[in-house]
Amino acid sequence: MKGRVISGKEISASVRQKIAKDAREFEQATGVKPGLAVVIVGEDPASCVYVRNKEKGCAEVGFYSERHQLQAHASTEELLAKIEELKANEKIHGILVQLPLPRQIDEKAVVSAIPPEMDVDGFHPENVGRLLLGEARFLPCTPAGIMKMLEYAHISVAGKECVVVGRSNIVGKPLAMLLLQANATVTICHSQTKNLPDVTRRADILIAAVGKAHFITADMVKEGAVVIDVGINRLANGKLAGDVDFDAVAPKTSAITPVPGGVGVMTITMLLENTLKAAQCQIERKNPDRTSFY
Ligand code: GUN
Repeated sequence: MKGRVISGKEISASVRQKIAKDAREFEQATGVKPGLAVVIVGEDPASCVYVRNKEKGCAEVGFYSERHQLQAHASTEELLAKIEELKANEKIHGILVQLPLPRQIDEKAVVSAIPPEMDVDGFHPENVGRLLLGEARFLPCTPAGIMKMLEYAHISVAGKECVVVGRSNIVGKPLAMLLLQANATVTICHSQTKNLPDVTRRADILIAAVGKAHFITADMVKEGAVVIDVGINRLANGKLAGDVDFDAVAPKTSAITPVPGGVGVMTITMLLENTLKAAQCQIERKNPDRTSFY
């Protein structure tokens, strides 16, 4: 079986068109452009690329965006002061601090300092708790993007064996929760999982979020499985590679996501969706007499 390739690029284009249209209507009704502030500390090349793509995404759908660059040796206090400044900025509805942060910075304090209603990453403890309860305000962008891709590809997860490889707070854990809420049977694997290929071969839907190039090989995949590749790894030759050995695995799958052009672009699209939602909620809260602007 040769797997069909689920294009994050194509799905994103269609979702972004809808976001752009909703943003235009919102601006016509309220005079407000959804605004995102992205804060980056230091100059990690991968983070710089992600941040640039986030800014490009904002421009594409007609949002306002600001980038705030802090020096690599910035302190927690400096970053917290920057967040305070952005909280008071009328043009900004969503605040995102690019992770990972340099070691001297207290990441927990930073994530908790972003008001939950401006936390377009969905990383604030309150938003994480809401997600666990099935009452999410903002879904974390990568897991939300994966769920959207499955939906657009007409792949139902209810009753399926879903195996998530990786247990990060950003991807593995929240994705497992979303799959569970969509009635999948979910297994989370990690570095101490015994007999990993035995577990991954059970998967109807296998999600690789490990951060190691070509970690998932053909022998780890069941014939006809759906494979979602979250990895974005830079090879020595400068090329990007996923966590899945695409060329070897694709022929065994019924559907597979590519890298690049797969989950990564969806992540940014979901960030745009969250930013629009943040703007809508904040403006509505400031104008409680208006029942709805959109
Ligand atoms: N670093 C890698 N992925 C992400 C993300 O989704 N949000 C933030 N803020 N940092 C990241």
